[in-house]
Amino acid sequence: MHITIGENRLELTIGDITKETTAAIVNAANGSLMGGGGVDGAIHQAAGPELLQACRKVRKEQLKGESLGTGEVVITAGYNLPANYVIHTVGPIWDPHQPNQDKQLANCYQNALKLATAHHLSSIAFPSISTGVYRFPLETAAEIAIKTITNYLQTTHFGHVKMVLFTEDDFRVYQSALNQYN
Ligand code: APR
Repeated sequence: MHITIGENRLELTIGDITKETTAAIVNAANGSLMGGGGVDGAIHQAAGPELLQACRKVRKEQLKGESLGTGEVVITAGYNLPANYVIHTVGPIWDPHQPNQDKQLANCYQNALKLATAHHLSSIAFPSISTGVYRFPLETAAEIAIKTITNYLQTTHFGHVKMVLFTEDDFRVYQSALNQYN
């Protein structure tokens, strides 16, 4: 399923993001950038050990040893992945008492698109950030993702954005969020 927004294309698909051939894929990382489970684990596994070395270098040099903040992004090469780059971001860990988690999740998508644009990339694939281990409600996360991506594409000539969902259920939820936009 896809829609066009100006010259841009937003596509939903079911699959394994480590197989995507977009210029960049987005990793739902944690602040340490030292890998983990879920999509983070899959991306590090597919990219190979050089990705962890690159993340260590980013942590030391770019982040001065600090953790990557929620909603923030950094970029590394993709190494053994078909994608040339990995944009790492940290989604919010669901906590209904935290007031600004919707904005933090939106920042993951917007900052990744801005960073890809700054690197003159014209294609990017996103997983469903924060809806796994971080337990962010799927329906709300899908609405935030679709709204943030479509808002960006309405004002920027970017290219191709893919949401790569891991399950049929996730795909259906994102499809209904996209239908509401249309
Ligand atoms: N391709 C695409 N999507 C995937 C893949 C894959 N290979 N593997 C998992 N997913 C999906 C999950 O099904 C979920 O829909 O990615 C989405 C995000 O789930 P998580 O990977 O658990 O990420 P998140 O909820 O953001 O939690 C991040 O988990 O793995 C750790 O180090 C990571 O601490 C961080 C936390």
